[in-house]
Amino acid sequence: MAKERIGIMGGTFNPIHLGHIAMAQAAIKAGSLDRVLFLPDGQPPHKSGIAPAEHRWRMVCAAIAPYKRMEPSRMELDRTGTTYTFDTLTALRELYPKASLFYIIGADTLMQLHTWHRWQEVLTLCTFLVCPRDDLTPGEEFRQERRRLQEMGARFVMVDMKPVDVSSTAIREALPSDEPIGHFDPAVQEYIGLTGLYGLSPRVPEADDWMPRLFADLTGRRFAHTLGVAWSARHLALVHGEDAYKAEAAALLHDCAKCLPLKDMQRIAADAKITQDRSVLESGALLHAPVGAWMAEHVYGVTDPEILSAIAAHTTGKPGMSGLDMVVNIADTIEPGRESYPLLSRIREASERSLREAMLLCLSGTVEHVEKSGRFLNTGTLQTLTWLCGHIAETGGGSETAVTNIHHAAKGG
Ligand SMILES: [Fe+2]
Ligand SMILES: [Fe+2]
Repeated sequence: MAKERIGIMGGTFNPIHLGHIAMAQAAIKAGSLDRVLFLPDGQPPHKSGIAPAEHRWRMVCAAIAPYKRMEPSRMELDRTGTTYTFDTLTALRELYPKASLFYIIGADTLMQLHTWHRWQEVLTLCTFLVCPRDDLTPGEEFRQERRRLQEMGARFVMVDMKPVDVSSTAIREALPSDEPIGHFDPAVQEYIGLTGLYGLSPRVPEADDWMPRLFADLTGRRFAHTLGVAWSARHLALVHGEDAYKAEAAALLHDCAKCLPLKDMQRIAADAKITQDRSVLESGALLHAPVGAWMAEHVYGVTDPEILSAIAAHTTGKPGMSGLDMVVNIADTIEPGRESYPLLSRIREASERSLREAMLLCLSGTVEHVEKSGRFLNTGTLQTLTWLCGHIAETGGGSETAVTNIHHAAKGG
């Protein structure tokens, strides 16, 4: 069997940005890597301006969650005292004795290699994948240093990529403007805004307390999705005059029960007498919404009925649903991490104009999906559809196709 090829991305990731992701992607290609480990540094003593390690860890996990070959590692984060690349590579060698290790660096780092702790030994422990830097054109000095190190046994592979013009420093400087930042994952920007890192005031002050539990209870992908939903919910709330704090708080907790095993959801539902509806009790895809609202109240300490309602109604909606309920429901569908499908761009467009129109399209999407899969439409969704169609007929608005689809579904069951 061929040796596994493991890439290593070290760094402070303060915060992680799409330049890091681009480097990892290019390195995967250049080195035919099976996977890349992201190893955020631990907390350097006496250094200000660096976000606490656990926050940087969660941001790294959220940012790399969509990429199959990227994995987070706590190896450096959990080590106390000064961490040297030599120690990390030695530990990785022990952990993966049969793998080939590839350390991913920028061209500027190659010039610094000779200053590293036990650098001559480091050269023998891995191959270096060297990514170009925007601010450094490798000249004669660079080539000479590379040759010198190669003569000492170093192995370098130059990675072919266009450097991404972004840096953590530039991102930290841009954060206070509260605008979307280029080459920066909205989920990570949302995490920073919610918790108030880098000197911002937290938009949801409770988020700092909620994060450890929420992060532990969700998979990386679900956590990234949750941040994306909070990002979209805030935007929709601001566009449509809803309460942005409530929208973000509800969005942050909307899937808090989603990764529980179904039997645990059912136990909570039975103990708390949440519902008698068997179609809901038998489906984790539906049950996590009311169970999530129960957890938001009893585990996370949310008391606001509007936030709890938005969490409970985020799958099926409900007759008479409020603007805030719609904001969270729609945000769940359109968050930036959603993979594209034909109706998605229409829902996104509609959501800028009208919450009801976008809600109708979301439900229309559910109808289509359920019809295609040959299942029956859930009663709760059908009740919401009936209410929304009636509501729109009374007050006007809504896309014709969506209304037609929905009447069709309502008739067909
Ligand atoms: Fe959900
Ligand atoms: Fe969700």
